[in-house]
Amino acid sequence: MQNVEYYQDTFSEYLQTFTVQKEPVSLYNPINYILNLGGKRLRPVLTLMTAEMFGCEMKKALPAALSIEVFHNFSLVHDDIMDDAPLRRGHETVHEKWDLNTGILSGDAMLILAYQLFENYEPHVFQALAKLFSKTALEVCEGQQYDMDFELMDNVSIPDYLKMIEYKTAVLVGAAMQMGAIVAEVSLEDQQGVYEFGKNLGIAFQLQDDYLDAFGDPKSFGKQVGGDIIENKKTYLYLKALEFSSESDRLQLQHLYGIQPTDASEKIKTVKQFFESTGAAQATKEAIKHYTNIAFMVLEGLNIPKERKDVLRVFGEQLMDREV
Ligand code: IPE
Ligand code: IPE
Ligand code: MG
Ligand code: MG
Ligand code: MG
Repeated sequence: MQNVEYYQDTFSEYLQTFTVQKEPVSLYNPINYILNLGGKRLRPVLTLMTAEMFGCEMKKALPAALSIEVFHNFSLVHDDIMDDAPLRRGHETVHEKWDLNTGILSGDAMLILAYQLFENYEPHVFQALAKLFSKTALEVCEGQQYDMDFELMDNVSIPDYLKMIEYKTAVLVGAAMQMGAIVAEVSLEDQQGVYEFGKNLGIAFQLQDDYLDAFGDPKSFGKQVGGDIIENKKTYLYLKALEFSSESDRLQLQHLYGIQPTDASEKIKTVKQFFESTGAAQATKEAIKHYTNIAFMVLEGLNIPKERKDVLRVFGEQLMDREV
């Protein structure tokens, strides 16, 4: 096994070969734009690492890794429309740079391109990948719908929230790893083991994403800081702040999550103060550790040599401390 940078570099090189130079350019330019904006490449790296961890040549897993990243980028283009987000990876979002219709159709095309990449595999591997992909992609849609529905609800619970992030984010991280295991042609039990590890890491990852959305550094975060507060997202930060508040603070916070001021800076500032003063920010940090530790416990039980597990553990620890 190699270090994380090695997998990132190998993936980036492969991605270069994927640039789609076809007509109409108004469909393909936005696809090339979003795919080349960078990003952490977390999911494809996990696909490659998992394949290699199970003794498979990493090269074999490259199309599956790319499929996952193209799907992820499709979900970001549509997510940015749904969240009315202006910034992605430090640049304009696709629907801002072009327009709404471009974001919709280029996104649709990416979803199909992601699926098409499975044609690189033999029928039995193709079938296993396609089956997992379809199940996961539907779950992501379900999670995204819950996320939208929750914006308008005022009785969202912590279990509701956890289910929502499991679907919109964590299952894809699990699937990225299981795809590496499918390409390596290991047993279903081993496939499910890495899926479970990835899913728990994915829950921690989304909790951290929510934390950074409020407390990230605008210079490096690459997205609009406070975007979730503007959109009244029912994040762990918000739900815990409600739980830990006095009656009058709770009413004020709920009021703030019912308004959409033209200038959101005051709302963001006040809400962030609540997040900190109530202890919700601290509770979120603890939840991130908790789910990362569950992932590590699952990792312990996996049927692979210890030094290979260590690479995944280091990766998980780095994710917990990330700033982007
Ligand atoms: C953003 O994913 C969407 C979430 C599920 C939180 P990433 O944080 O992996 O985004 P990039 O690909 O690195 O930009
Ligand atoms: C995104 O969740 C999940 C998917 C894209 C499916 P967020 O809406 O929190 O992701 P960011 O913060 O915009 O990257
Ligand atoms: Mg978003
Ligand atoms: Mg969203
Ligand atoms: Mg977010």
